[in-house]
Amino acid sequence: MAKKIAVLTSGGDAPGMNAAIRAIVRKIIFDGNEAYGVRYGFRGLADGDIFQMTAADVSTLSSRGGTILFTARYPEFAEEEGQLKALEQLKRHEIDGLVVIGGDGSYQGALALSRRGFPTVGIPGTIDNDIPGTDFTIGFDTACNTALEALDKLRDTAKSHMRTFVVEVMGRHAGDIALWSGIGCGADQVIIPEINFDIQEVVDQINQGREKGKKHTLIVLAEGVMPGYKFADLLDEYGNYHIRTTVLGHVQRGGSPSAKDRMLATSLGHAAVEALAKGQSGVCMGIVDNKIVYTDIENALEKKDDRQKRNTLNKYLYDLNQETSVWS
Ligand code: ADP
Ligand code: F6P
Repeated sequence: MAKKIAVLTSGGDAPGMNAAIRAIVRKIIFDGNEAYGVRYGFRGLADGDIFQMTAADVSTLSSRGGTILFTARYPEFAEEEGQLKALEQLKRHEIDGLVVIGGDGSYQGALALSRRGFPTVGIPGTIDNDIPGTDFTIGFDTACNTALEALDKLRDTAKSHMRTFVVEVMGRHAGDIALWSGIGCGADQVIIPEINFDIQEVVDQINQGREKGKKHTLIVLAEGVMPGYKFADLLDEYGNYHIRTTVLGHVQRGGSPSAKDRMLATSLGHAAVEALAKGQSGVCMGIVDNKIVYTDIENALEKKDDRQKRNTLNKYLYDLNQETSVWS
């Protein structure tokens, strides 16, 4: 008998979520099963906003940003009542398995359902790239490219006016977007939450560049450190650097996903459906050392090794930028 498998998106949207939805729906139907969509994340699940999806419903979806299933923050899902409501709706619609696309908060929701006996798997969807169990999250590459495009443009005007630009990029707790886009554009400084900065060192480096003839400065700041305007005020106390501040904000969350994000979303979506078919639950998909893998969500969320690996990589990237951007 055909199984009924549902998919939802939760937490912050990310470019590539739609490509994942497309892959999930198509793979479910390819396997001879029925695909269902849930609107508005866990809130929609608790409200029973569940509908059948056809192969045609996801046509040409790979290129579209956002999520056609919409997303929501529904803190009530951390409580028993919200979870029991969702289980009731899943039973009412005779759903056999669920794929949750989202960040670590959404993984907690997926884990809660799995612990209550409902087959649920997770896919990492967030631009921040801060989810354990994977080297890359869906949306990160596109967000970096969006930031990079803006940074290249800002460099043009910074250079023309011999100005200093402080550019705040997204990353609530993670410096990944700042590091990858900063290295890509050759930023003079990348300031991230994982590594303490010393304003005097920043100032010394700017001054050293000035002495060697570099008249403009590009500083990429991850929002998790402090707001861009605050950093600019701090820097302003040390000299007249003709500072302008740009906050890139939610522009980084939208747009057509890059080739890399479409590929990642398609392969992780496909793997999620395969994992459910194999009877897996409470696991999250990921790409690790270029291989598609799945890990227990519980272990992934607690795993110190993963955090260590990420911190080591980010320290390497930070040094890489320092050693290639400073005019010494
Ligand atoms: P993200 O998934 O991007 O990290 P959030 O942290 O906002 O975003 O989480 C998304 C949703 O996941 C929340 O609105 C809530 O519905 C659900 N969620 C978050 N934390 C938990 C939890 N501890 N238990 C169950 N569900 C949770
Ligand atoms: O987690 C993704 C993210 O885009 C962060 O980079 C950012 O801090 C946050 O979401 C913004 O959330 P909201 O859309 O709720 O303002």
